[in-house]
Amino acid sequence: MNQDELKKAVAKAALDHIRPHLDQESVIGVGTGSTANCFIDLLADIRTDFDGAVASSDATAERLKSHGIPVYDLNSAGPLEFYVDGADETNERLELIKGGGGALTREKIVAAVAKTFICIADGSKEVDILGAFPLPVEVVPMARSHVGREIVKLGGDPVYREGFTTDNGNIILDIHNLDISRPIQVEEQLNNIVGIVTNGLFARRPADLLLLGTEDGVKTIS
Ligand code: A5P
Repeated sequence: MNQDELKKAVAKAALDHIRPHLDQESVIGVGTGSTANCFIDLLADIRTDFDGAVASSDATAERLKSHGIPVYDLNSAGPLEFYVDGADETNERLELIKGGGGALTREKIVAAVAKTFICIADGSKEVDILGAFPLPVEVVPMARSHVGREIVKLGGDPVYREGFTTDNGNIILDIHNLDISRPIQVEEQLNNIVGIVTNGLFARRPADLLLLGTEDGVKTIS
């Protein structure tokens, strides 16, 4: 299977996992990216099995709406049983790097609210130690230089994502060469830097379930 087929396979596995738990009032948290897009397209097929969705980005909201799926503001949605999203990297503890698409802040918020966070990823995303993928952080524009200096003190090399603005009007710094052998501690250190809105480490709140697409089929890891 190629990477696209693996993404479709894990999206289908996520749909099969949540479908028995859905009813007419269910609202599903939906992530951002190419793997999440596969899931959105499958959701369209079971449109009448659930009420609607909360989107983790404007792009996801548009795609959901294009399928006729109602999109709710998180503040007015009821409880979220499930959040389904991709990742840029995952380790065996289901700690993740996210934010390659720049939607990390809303993704982290929806993941925090949802009862069960299901991560869907092709096998290339599985790593022993997080950090080969540059860690995205969303930064308030006026704090860019300050945050950059603080990241250098932590041993990372911040790179400004040129020409990119998040859905929240902020910028992204991608941190290269950061030692993330202790993900929870690094997440907390970055959380303490004034000017960072969100960092892309999902370690304090890892995924609950990982559906990993491999040549041998979809592995379920919890
Ligand atoms: C979006 O900001 C990211 O967190 C995505 O979830 C992540 O980049 C995975 O994207 P793909 O499914 O496109 O690899």
